[in-house]
Amino acid sequence: MINIIFDTDPGVDDAFALLYALNHPNINVLGITTVFGNVPVETSTKNALILSEMANKGTIVYQGANKPLDRKVTNYPSFIHGHDGLGDTNQPQSKFNASKLDAAQFIINEINENSGNINLVAVGPLTNIANAIKQDPSIANKVNSLLIMGGSWLAGGNITPVAEANIYNDPEAAEIVFKSGLPIIMVGLDVTHKVFLSQKDIDKLSSLNNSGKFLKKISNIYIKFYKDTRNMDGCFFHDATAVIAMTNPEFFKYKNAKVYVSKDNLTRGQTVVYLKDLKHETTINDDRDFVKVLYDVESKNVISEYLKVAENFIY
Ligand code: BDR
Ligand code: CA
Repeated sequence: MINIIFDTDPGVDDAFALLYALNHPNINVLGITTVFGNVPVETSTKNALILSEMANKGTIVYQGANKPLDRKVTNYPSFIHGHDGLGDTNQPQSKFNASKLDAAQFIINEINENSGNINLVAVGPLTNIANAIKQDPSIANKVNSLLIMGGSWLAGGNITPVAEANIYNDPEAAEIVFKSGLPIIMVGLDVTHKVFLSQKDIDKLSSLNNSGKFLKKISNIYIKFYKDTRNMDGCFFHDATAVIAMTNPEFFKYKNAKVYVSKDNLTRGQTVVYLKDLKHETTINDDRDFVKVLYDVESKNVISEYLKVAENFIY
């Protein structure tokens, strides 16, 4: 069993990813931590509770940061995820409540209690992870892996021409995380812009069970966004791809690199990737660790893997 803490800002693609993780036979989700991002954190929490209830494992939700470390929230992309983060589908509230314990504190406690046996999965802005590291830097050596959906090496950006949204939304937090020494796997746009969930795949999902019907329903605005902006007949599969990089690393290729995050206005949130095996004329001299930057993926296998696990979604 892979023990994970799932840090998220649901969000339509987060919902796909979270249902996959919660229902996966080899994943044990120790807790869900929420963060602002696609929606305000209160809405993230509300949505995480709905998804947790749907998977029926009693997974507890811990609310985290409502804003970036040193900035104000720029905006919430309701034109992508809906005002409610679930495609404006007006979902009934879960009967469960979030824990009173703060997300960063939960992360610290859990890592200290299960040293060497926890994988963090972060598919929203990295604020909760950065807060945990700031409060207890010793956790860096006690985590198996931190899988990040975020950043970009050569693929350019999505929220700006050079920045991926999760990193852009809190670049200071991302920089703390990339220099923390945590064993990071960066699943950025180099990979997620190659994984495409088609309308046909979504129809297939919806024929499987109620979770699939729910996912199809919440995807309408999300799909429309991709149609309007990129003339795509489907959508990118960002956050679920990141989780599948953990369950099926054999589908991916990576390079070792040091990653730096821009905090400048024009390039805010850009991830600058210095490969281990490529010497530049100038290098940045610091002792940060190399991380794994995923850059290629067997896209069809990612989608089939998702659909295979989805057949056994409990609801
Ligand atoms: C990331 O940004 C969010 O909008 C998505 O949920 C995903 O985590 C993609 O850039
Ligand atoms: Ca997300």
